[in-house]
Amino acid sequence: MSKVFKQKEHTVNALKNIHCTIYEGEMVAIMGTSGSGKSTFLNMISAVDAPSEGKMLLFGQEANDLHKEPNASKFRKENIGFVFQSFHLLQDLNVEDNIALPLILNDVSNKEIKQRVDKVMKQLQIDKWRKHRPHELSGGQKQRVAIARAIVTNPPILLADEPTGALDVNTTDDILRLLVSLQEEMRQTILLVTHDPYVATFANRVLFFHDGAIVDSYQNEKHPGDLDAILDKFKEITGGAGHV
Ligand SMILES: Nc1ncnc2c1ncn2[C@@H]1O[C@H](COP(=O)(O)OP(=O)(O)OP(=O)(O)O)[C@@H](O)[C@H]1O
Ligand SMILES: [Mg+2]
Repeated sequence: MSKVFKQKEHTVNALKNIHCTIYEGEMVAIMGTSGSGKSTFLNMISAVDAPSEGKMLLFGQEANDLHKEPNASKFRKENIGFVFQSFHLLQDLNVEDNIALPLILNDVSNKEIKQRVDKVMKQLQIDKWRKHRPHELSGGQKQRVAIARAIVTNPPILLADEPTGALDVNTTDDILRLLVSLQEEMRQTILLVTHDPYVATFANRVLFFHDGAIVDSYQNEKHPGDLDAILDKFKEITGGAGHV
């Protein structure tokens, strides 16, 4: 796939003829410098945007038409859970109503909403905060709620853009272990954008983006993977900085 953004003055080649396969049940970390095309790549997968050239197969089927409405919204509702660095919780709703939101949008019955929300709150150990508002929770607690909301519809694909970017080291560990358990127990396919090589050790595979291309990849043979090896590859790509 390629993605070109045409602006008045100049053209940005955000993705340049990238080719890759993501396997069912895999956790893939996406690393790369700022502006290298990571979020653009997630936007293609979630049908938020269409490739300018090339095609994408989702579940083995050609998926380019998915980007047109109303297909795109339907596809996202049924298949994709999103997790963001800044949580994106609705401040006026309590925890259980935030989690219920995607089910309400999917026209699920009240009885089933209650059952599913209860189940996911127990699974993520957040039932004790059921009546709390987001501002009463810590960052890690908020991210647990956001993950609960992302998985309550049981989507096969979870996309996470810097999910631990706003969290301290211990909370980062906690959230990553939670993502790994979701992958193992629910066979969810997880794509995780991160600037942090430590976060990438939790994935099965790391894809390194640079200037719109996938320039390298790394398979984590064990779990957690080899931090030094990932750091070395990342340093190569960032020209020695090791961070961006
Ligand atoms: N809607 C858009 N219109 C124009 N240019 C865009 C648009 N979205 C992204 N770009 C450009 O495409 C390139 C890739 O952007 P992208 O957001 O995918 O980078 P990224 O790897 O996610 O960076 P970061 O780590 O900073 O989030 C950048 O040069 C960006 O300015
Ligand atoms: Mg981005």
